Amino acid sequence: MKHKIIIDTDPGIDDTMAIAYAIAHPDIELVALTTIFGNVSVSDATDNALKLLHFFGHPAEVARGEERPLTIAPNPHSYFVHGPNGLGGIELPASSRTATIQSAAEYLVSKTREMPGEIDICAVGPLTNLARALEIDPTIVERVKSVVVMGGSIYRTGNVSPVAEANIWNDPHAAEAVFAASWPLVLAPMDVTTQVVLSPEFFLDLQAANPRSGKLLADMARYYTKFYRSHSGINGCIPHDVMALAYLTIPGVYMQKRGAIAVVTEGPGIGQTIFQPTGQLAVSTMWGERSQHLALLDIDPGLFAAHYYSTIASEITPTETVLY
Ligand code: BDR
Ligand code: CA
Repeated sequence: MKHKIIIDTDPGIDDTMAIAYAIAHPDIELVALTTIFGNVSVSDATDNALKLLHFFGHPAEVARGEERPLTIAPNPHSYFVHGPNGLGGIELPASSRTATIQSAAEYLVSKTREMPGEIDICAVGPLTNLARALEIDPTIVERVKSVVVMGGSIYRTGNVSPVAEANIWNDPHAAEAVFAASWPLVLAPMDVTTQVVLSPEFFLDLQAANPRSGKLLADMARYYTKFYRSHSGINGCIPHDVMALAYLTIPGVYMQKRGAIAVVTEGPGIGQTIFQPTGQLAVSTMWGERSQHLALLDIDPGLFAAHYYSTIASEITPTETVLY
């Protein structure tokens, strides 16, 4: 049976890589994109989500999400990473469709009521929509099949501070609420995502193999790679958000550890994710009492890149194509 997924997203270049993967993968049925501020404003995220679905010729619904974090003042968006429109400056044609009347949080609540036990929520932006959904209806934790999150850094440094990763840092209070909740949650932190670097040659090959989606991804990756080259000195880009999604389809390729996850919500460590492995001795009793989740910590990067390539390369494209 296919995984029915909702991607909670701030597109975003690696978000687009994840959306393309979900659409191309034969074992995934993309139900909806719920949008969130983060890489871009929520208006741009919603606009980008609609344009991407139009480009891919996909009927998934779009629900617009929160425009600011629960408690902290908003951090600046990351247009410098993802380009002036969040899509590496690629101007996609407008969609004739609009977002649903329901907010993203309301959509998550109602969709999981309609399809209890069937929906995987894959959250690849700040976790504000998920925290709001928990506020609206805490019993959502019993109705989701799983929640897979890209965010945090456990044993490595962060990408927005020495300890914080962007998605968690952009709304630490929401992330803390989401990790405290007792739903089946899997975290793909930077420990695992930064192991994979997709090179410019990888994208040239992908474009040759799939001149439609592959070309879009290659064009966008050029902008993203410029950022990585200048900021991290690497010749390629990191597909963070795809790594969370792929847990649903190829869970066996990740080294996983169970444990409790908490978030620092103030001070110089704001946005840090703290992980306490299940059963590891701690004087404080709070860790054993918290929800126990799964963290993905290791992967074979070559195997992952080959899987992403073959998924996009073997996509069956609709005959009517919209190019840009
Ligand atoms: C995460 O933050 C965003 O820039 C990316 O889309 C990804 O979700 C990486 O820190
Ligand atoms: Ca993202």
